[in-house]
Amino acid sequence: MPSTLIVNARLVNEGREFDGDLRFEDGRIAQIGTGLSARANESVIDAGGRRLLPGMIDDQVHFREPGMEYKADIATESAAAVAGGLTSFMDMPNTNPPTLDAEALENKYRRAEGRAWGNYGFYMGASNDNLAAIQSLDPLAAPGIKVFMGASTGNMLVDNPEILDSIFRDAPTPIITHCEDTPMIDAELARYKAKYGDDIPAACHPDIRSREACMKSTQLALSLARKHDTRLHVLHISTADELALFEKGPLIRADGSRKRITAETCIHFLRFDRADYARLGNLIKCNPAIKDASDREALIQALTDDVIDVLATDHAPHTLEEKARLYTGAPSGLPLVQYALVAALELVHEGRLTTSQVVQKFAHAPAQLFDVKGRGFLREGYAADLVLIDDTPFTVQREDVLSKCGWSPFEGTTFRSRIASTWVNGELAWDGRQLVGQPRGERLAFDR
Ligand code: DOR
Repeated sequence: MPSTLIVNARLVNEGREFDGDLRFEDGRIAQIGTGLSARANESVIDAGGRRLLPGMIDDQVHFREPGMEYKADIATESAAAVAGGLTSFMDMPNTNPPTLDAEALENKYRRAEGRAWGNYGFYMGASNDNLAAIQSLDPLAAPGIKVFMGASTGNMLVDNPEILDSIFRDAPTPIITHCEDTPMIDAELARYKAKYGDDIPAACHPDIRSREACMKSTQLALSLARKHDTRLHVLHISTADELALFEKGPLIRADGSRKRITAETCIHFLRFDRADYARLGNLIKCNPAIKDASDREALIQALTDDVIDVLATDHAPHTLEEKARLYTGAPSGLPLVQYALVAALELVHEGRLTTSQVVQKFAHAPAQLFDVKGRGFLREGYAADLVLIDDTPFTVQREDVLSKCGWSPFEGTTFRSRIASTWVNGELAWDGRQLVGQPRGERLAFDR
């Protein structure tokens, strides 16, 4: 296959933004430099000074396969992801059946072959009954083990204290947790139901799934991780309160060691707050709940302060019909992969983050944290997973949504940057208007 040379780009990588050229060949980045000259037969793309980033790695998506293909599947959601500049994804185990053993895990990898537009990893799930499967998990088979320490979509709560302790003691991969205390949530929900019946206003969601419930469960996860020296990644931090629990500083410390306990936040916590329930209602109902404007501000600051290590989506599509139900029947979660990167770049336009910080949190950090082999950076020899950003504004329209559920919480929002091109393993997958070619995603490999 002839090589491709991108010239005149603004490369963003490893804390630097610099003008340069990048050549890729046979799916890999072959050369990064300045003034590179085109070879015979090479296709040349003039980036015109636009920003070229490594493709984002989303460490938290729910693509719903198997079992809920009526609302999403690996093909449709990975297509939406590459249209949004996300070239790798790590998918959650709360499918039907849930991913609770090696066979279910391999079944998902087989499903993704030839259908995933981005590179894929699948998490092993934990339950009160699958300790043996967790203990015997091949650490190269999954990015990590997902533990629902709070009940959410699906029925995967791990609330047996001895089992929880054993999982933290024996996990052969990083543990990632959903932290919300279910008994506290159940008690609040009962109080609100007594008052409103099923028609609870969506704005009460952050009071039912409260900050205190997040705090209590996150504290428990951290104490177990400290007890067993577990590699723990706490997902979707939604409150300012929890930030004090985490180590401030770069993921890779000055002495070369890596933090053993890390934190993630998600794009919706940075773009929405309590005031948005009035406009969007159950459409932005998700777990943990979107909380106050002060939480949103603290979370953005925590990204710049290196208290939060990773930015992700928690893409969790549900149909509009499901979302139109009364509060108690409306499922939690929102579709986010297609507009998450441009929403993060909006924070750059606002002067709150730099492009380098977005790249650090959304591409480098997930690669480093999960030991992803050969991706997440603009480095020679690494996979040519690339995103070209064009600073031309656009407004999100429902008809442009590629997720199977067919809606976005960002409809009507104007973003100042768009995704001009996405390459996956050196093949153009998104040309700024449509998907191109065939799904080229590969199974993620882990260097551990
Ligand atoms: O809002 C959420 N939706 N939070 C979760 O933890 C699960 C997810 C889903 O699968 O719908």
